[in-house]
Amino acid sequence: MMLSAEYRATAESLRKEIEYHNRRYYTLDDPEITDAAYDQLLRELQALEAQYPELLTTDSPTQRVGAEPLDAFSEVVHPVPMLSLDNAFDQQEFADFDRRVRERLELTDEVHYIAEPKLDGLAISLLYEDGLLVRGATRGDGKVGEDVTQNIRTIPTIPLHLTGSGYPKRLEVRGEIFMPKAGFNRLNERARQQGEKGFANPRNAAAGSLRQLNPKIAAARPLAIYCYGFGLVEGGQLGKSHYESMQLLAQWGLRISPELKQLSGISACHDYYQQLAKRRDGLDYDIDGVVYKVDDLQQQQHLGFVSRAPRWAIAWKFPAQEETTRIVGIDFQVGRTGALTPVARLEPVQVAGVMVSNATLHNMDEIQRKDIRFDDTVIVRRAGDVIPEVVRSVLSKRPADAKKISMPALCPECQSEVIRLEGEAVARCSGGLFCPAQRKEAIKHFASRKAMDIEGLGNKLVDQLVDKSLIHTPADLFNLSLDQFAGLERMAEKSAQNLLDALEKSRLTTLPRFLFSLGIREVGEATARSLALHFGSIEAIREADQERLQTVSDVGPIVAEHIIAFFRQPHNLEVVKALQNAGVHWPAIEQAAADQLPLTDKSFVLTGTLSRPRSVIKEQLQSLGAKVAGSVSKKTDYLVAGADAGSKLAKAEKLGVEVLDEEKLERLLATL
Ligand code: IVH
Repeated sequence: MMLSAEYRATAESLRKEIEYHNRRYYTLDDPEITDAAYDQLLRELQALEAQYPELLTTDSPTQRVGAEPLDAFSEVVHPVPMLSLDNAFDQQEFADFDRRVRERLELTDEVHYIAEPKLDGLAISLLYEDGLLVRGATRGDGKVGEDVTQNIRTIPTIPLHLTGSGYPKRLEVRGEIFMPKAGFNRLNERARQQGEKGFANPRNAAAGSLRQLNPKIAAARPLAIYCYGFGLVEGGQLGKSHYESMQLLAQWGLRISPELKQLSGISACHDYYQQLAKRRDGLDYDIDGVVYKVDDLQQQQHLGFVSRAPRWAIAWKFPAQEETTRIVGIDFQVGRTGALTPVARLEPVQVAGVMVSNATLHNMDEIQRKDIRFDDTVIVRRAGDVIPEVVRSVLSKRPADAKKISMPALCPECQSEVIRLEGEAVARCSGGLFCPAQRKEAIKHFASRKAMDIEGLGNKLVDQLVDKSLIHTPADLFNLSLDQFAGLERMAEKSAQNLLDALEKSRLTTLPRFLFSLGIREVGEATARSLALHFGSIEAIREADQERLQTVSDVGPIVAEHIIAFFRQPHNLEVVKALQNAGVHWPAIEQAAADQLPLTDKSFVLTGTLSRPRSVIKEQLQSLGAKVAGSVSKKTDYLVAGADAGSKLAKAEKLGVEVLDEEKLERLLATL
């Protein structure tokens, strides 16, 4: 008996502690402990409950992982009907609403409203008895909904019991369940990887998750809630105003919208609408308007309801972002880096106030996943400033002979091969140095400081030279005359001469620089250096096969494939040859074996915020022969620590591993 009481107390205190951290993490967005420490607590409680099932309670945080599946949901009759909202679609309709409110209340002053986003999710009713979550129900038809308590319990932002004190004995909280965009994207990404179709939008995903009979599936879905109101309130009171009442809900651990504001009069409401519309795309959840409510609860009561909607609230909707139109053709656009993007040509249609006649289809995977075909009737969507996209086809309107869309084999700009590597979503033109679409980018890269370092040949000059058709490939640069340079805008004779001198000077380069300047995909400075050191000549690299290329330390199958594809294009070979004919040359390289590289056998770990991307530093270290590992151990030689380094730094210090800041790293590299 003693033992059991002791365990009961332990379980209780674990539960309290876990719920406390849950709230810090999910509701307050301000965690105190690490994820690992949290998991540890949860596992302890799980173990205890597994051993002594009589300790298990319905409000135990372990229940959030999902209970046993149900056969069907039972019905819930809402004690207070769940209403819907009237809509306003423009400023005038909102002003009409405000006028009606003032007339009914016989007010001459401005009305006090509260405003918050209209979330695009599902309405939910949460019933708390003595602070304990006893039931979660969907809206259904407003009178009768479905009991989805099991699934509701798995949502981390919903408290299983209220915190603090002073809550009514029975309290029915209302809110919107939704799936944050980030979670939705991850979920769909995973579905796609498993060959499944995924959800059309976060709202559908949230609805589908909540209607899962198996709570374990719901538990794995990233759902969240914002509470926006209440239904039944018994044995206690909320505030005098809606706003005050919402603050009480927040005190009891329920999540309310951080956007909730008190406003007076319609001009403030209008400003709020405009501001939120601007920020709409940046929010991590879908919204489709603003909900305004008369703040004073007595006034609300006075105003009452008409049929299914209250007179004291309105949803001022944002303009629709989706419209229906028809695909009239498909083009493939070649981007500056050679990526081919399928673009649908559309019958022009107004979407959220803008005429749309093209929409991106992103890539071939997207086309296949959404099964979009020629001549389809499609839903197009534009959000903010982003390029309009095709959301889906309307299958019922598909012509019987609608043809499938396929990727062209040759680049529509330069007829080089189009390459799509396994596992990559994007297909690319492999005509890098030659392709007109990539011309400017290729030449700018070629001239840049870490490549051929042609001083004075900036981006604007390259634009001019290409636009005037004076050059087509980097090799043409070396055939330009003083007169041709001097004829360009903002180019005095002196600078034209300087440029000619710089070009002359750049003819003598190094093999790593030359290789880098070719702009082969995935071949950065460090890889170019490794390749040059390993193979010693451009001919040897050109002739190397997959296997031989991969013997170079940081060359994997993908990089190797890019190198091979590059040198397979006759046009690219012509440009390389033309460059050499124009006098570009480099001193011969003595081939270094891997075991002679200066950092061979040294092991590095990178941590904290560094001034350059980690991948870049990693590549640089690897090209010098170093190993770069993910975690610190006794075998680590150096930890490179940037700002805000955490546990890895502590571990390195404990193990006596040498710690380098970026400056020290630079110094170390300079001595090699
Ligand atoms: S208040 C009686 N506030 O919109 C008023 N509803 O069109 C009840 N909704 O079923 C609703 N965000 O699911 C309110 N901030 C918000 C909301 C919101 C989304 C949904 C709710 C309701 C529907 C009505």
